[in-house]
Amino acid sequence: MPTVIVADSLTESRENIKTILRADPTIEVIGEARDGDEALQLVKSLSPDVLILDANIAGIDAIEVTERVSPNVGVIIISLHDDKILLRQLMRAGASDFLLKPVARDELIDAVRVAAMRVQRYRALAAGGSEGRVGQIIAVYSPKGGSGKTVIACNLAVALARHHTGPVCLVDLNLQYGNVDMVLNLMPQHTIASLAQRQGELELEVLERHLTTHEDSGLQVLVAPSTPQYAETVTVYLVEQVLSLLRKGFDYIIVDLPTVLEDYSMVALDTAEYIILVTELDVLAIHNTRVALEILRQLYSPERIKVVLNRANSQVQITPEKVEEVLGCTLLARIPSDGRLVVSSVNNGIPFVLSHPNAEISRSIVQLAYAIMGREAPIGELVQPTKQKRRIPVIGPLIDYLLGPS
Ligand SMILES: Nc1ncnc2c1ncn2[C@@H]1O[C@H](COP(=O)(O)OP(=O)(O)O)[C@@H](O)[C@H]1O
Ligand SMILES: [Mg+2]
Repeated sequence: MPTVIVADSLTESRENIKTILRADPTIEVIGEARDGDEALQLVKSLSPDVLILDANIAGIDAIEVTERVSPNVGVIIISLHDDKILLRQLMRAGASDFLLKPVARDELIDAVRVAAMRVQRYRALAAGGSEGRVGQIIAVYSPKGGSGKTVIACNLAVALARHHTGPVCLVDLNLQYGNVDMVLNLMPQHTIASLAQRQGELELEVLERHLTTHEDSGLQVLVAPSTPQYAETVTVYLVEQVLSLLRKGFDYIIVDLPTVLEDYSMVALDTAEYIILVTELDVLAIHNTRVALEILRQLYSPERIKVVLNRANSQVQITPEKVEEVLGCTLLARIPSDGRLVVSSVNNGIPFVLSHPNAEISRSIVQLAYAIMGREAPIGELVQPTKQKRRIPVIGPLIDYLLGPS
């Protein structure tokens, strides 16, 4: 969870910012400062991820404060005036973003998340030599449509974003009929197809601007094209580039795959740390899973392939134990069926792991998330339900602002 210090000489302005940030469960305000001196002291003693700094703060000025704290702390400048000269100086000093007062809620939260992500990456690089972050790709696949890949991928990604401290990303590789954006109620400004023109020069920073934030969890999502025509513009090469860049910026990258194994799905499977193979208690699903397992076991080492049983409590003749016997492996998770909760969750665009964290199905997904993280799952009450918030599109990044309207 990003930690933030707010530095502004005006009490009212500090209060406004704190009110906005406190309403967001994924961001924590850990201090506030009235002048530049106090801001520097607090940064030193509390080491926040992000400093929100008024451009005209009293005491040691904003340029010096920025110079001294960045790049170890992300600096977001807020200002009453659209002063491009001062802004340039602040950017040179290392500020990562700039917002005009009064600050809009979504703009601010987005800026904090982006700044925190960059700082975390910078710190990881500084700590770990030149290699930097190498995130794990978790590919969710099933050789049968309707088995629950998308529902499981979305809720698993949200659970990871909530329970893991580092950045988590979800990629919708259902290029023709992706609906991760609907399951998470996102209003994306970009999709993977908008990256197609950039594929020769793709960098993580560009890619990050094409992600959409899931507000209630902080999860970053690369959404599928809005119509099947755009799917054709997404090449295997682009998918390769996207996944390899995401591994540098995120700890976990969950990939929701289509039922048909396309070339680009193979890219995800090839690079995946774990392939989550979703199956169900029905003969057709089990048959297809067995065939898929045979192929996958020829291609990849068996410990990378994990079978998850969806609708595991359905009262049918087949038992989960029988499935294990037929497939020759232990099930990594058993996700119960909960028609009422899943359907209303999908229809409302609120993942059930957030709206009903203590439902049996949510607990099974959280447990799966912990198994992936290699940690013990918590016992007792899980995270509190959160209210759904509608996302309002945010303005473009600073560079677009500096360049003016195109
Ligand atoms: N555990 C479950 N309990 C009840 N309904 C489920 C469950 N998992 C998935 N569903 C429902 O099954 C349908 C198909 O799920 P989806 O995730 O879209 O499958 P896939 O991505 O594999 O095609 C959806 O309508 C979803 O609401
Ligand atoms: Mg799907």
